[in-house]
Amino acid sequence: MLKAIYPGTFDPVTMGHWDLIQRAEKLVDHLIVAVLHNPSKHPAFSVAERIDFLRELVQPFANVEVATFHGLLVDFARLQGSTSIIRGVRAFSDFEYEFQMAIMNRKLAPDLETIFLMPKEEYSVLSSKMVRDVGMMGGDITGFVPEALRERIAKRLRNPEDYA
Ligand code: PNS
Repeated sequence: MLKAIYPGTFDPVTMGHWDLIQRAEKLVDHLIVAVLHNPSKHPAFSVAERIDFLRELVQPFANVEVATFHGLLVDFARLQGSTSIIRGVRAFSDFEYEFQMAIMNRKLAPDLETIFLMPKEEYSVLSSKMVRDVGMMGGDITGFVPEALRERIAKRLRNPEDYA
C-alpha cells in the first residue's frame, strides 16, 4: 500500500495546491495532506481554518485525509507509516529550496522518497503569498483559490479580525 504525505503551510490553499492534491490522489493508495503547525511563521489563517478548507475540498476523495503536524516532517511521516513525500515544483525558482529540503529529509530518513509533481502551467506563478497580498488589498482572487472557498478566503483576508 502506497501511503504518501503532501505537507505544506497552505496559508491559504491555492488552485496550485488543489491541482497537486488531485494529481497525487490518483498516484497513491492513501494521501495525507499535512498542514504545518508553526506559529512562529505567523500564518494569516489558523490551523483550524486551513484544515477546514482542505477537508471541504478533499471530502469527495475516500483515500485523502487532512492532518496537522509540528516538528520534523520525517517524524510525522514515520508515525503515519508513510513511504513518500509529495511536493510541487512550479518553476525552476522552486528547485533549489525543494532540492535542499528533499536531500535533508533523505539524510534524516533514507527510506522516505520525495516525489515531485508539476501543477498545471497556469498555476506556475501562483502562491499563497500572492493570494494573501491580493486579497488583503481587496483584489479579486477568482481563479487563484478553489471557487467553493473563494468568498470565505476573500472575506477573511479583507477582515483579518474576523477569526472564523
Ligand atoms: O508550503 P511550504 O511552506 O513550502 O511547506 C514547507 C514544509 C511544511 C513542507 C516544510 O517547512 C517542513 O517540512 N517543515 C517541517 C520541519 C522539517 O521537517 N524541516 C526539515 C526539512 S527541511
